[in-house]
Amino acid sequence: MRRKMIAGNWKMNNGPAAAEDFVSALEEWFASDRGGKRSADAVSSGRIEIVLAPPFTSIASAVAARRTNLIDIAAQNAHHKRGGAFTGEVSLPMIEESGCKYVIIGHSERRHVFGETDDALEKKLIATLESGVLPIFCVGETLDERTSGSMEKVLSSQLTSAWSSLTSDVIGEMVVIAYEPVWAIGTGKTASDSDAEDACDFIRTLAYDKFGIAASDSLRILYGGSVKPENSGALLAQSDIDGLLIGGASLDVEQFEKIIESAL
Ligand code: PGA
Repeated sequence: MRRKMIAGNWKMNNGPAAAEDFVSALEEWFASDRGGKRSADAVSSGRIEIVLAPPFTSIASAVAARRTNLIDIAAQNAHHKRGGAFTGEVSLPMIEESGCKYVIIGHSERRHVFGETDDALEKKLIATLESGVLPIFCVGETLDERTSGSMEKVLSSQLTSAWSSLTSDVIGEMVVIAYEPVWAIGTGKTASDSDAEDACDFIRTLAYDKFGIAASDSLRILYGGSVKPENSGALLAQSDIDGLLIGGASLDVEQFEKIIESAL
């Protein structure tokens, strides 16, 4: 049984004070009867994992606001070098020291707004796997790529380039893949349950072809793109979707709580 991951990507939202308020509210809910305790039990027993990805400057206050170990923290990006003259960048050892368990690598905004290439993302993925932080590696096609029928080609080339030098153990135990079709991110257009499942199934098959059955069975694959409480349950019911990466709806603590409940 793969552990479900419910991950909130706050993007460039929620400064330190808002991050503290959000984490405190979520902790209070975990201690409350309104579905919170059931969710906390599911996390404690290892069935679900809850992750929040604040912007860098809010990581410390999100970490400090935790009163339990129910919430894991992720960074949204990292540089592949461990240190040096890279103004404006943040290294993986710094991210680890600040209390993060995960880092998001290759989010579509990093690829398309900031021009991160497959080669650069392969370096980041390898550096992450050599650090004490685990990667949530994002892939996904644009609308043009989907309508021209090249979704599989795009996913395949993004993944082949990223994981070419990895081993089965690493893929099965350390890597989380997030399938996020670019046309569904922040647009209100969710992929249909079956489109999302087909893409996640395709990713698992690619993992099977390269790494074998054990690794592909344990690889966790998330869906992301306009996830809301109204569609989260149906997406999570798909056999190859092991969790959700949530942008907009993760900024509202009640919506985020409802999404967690839909994973129970
Ligand atoms: P969205 O963002 O839920 O706002 O579409 C998802 C993401 O970018 O991870």
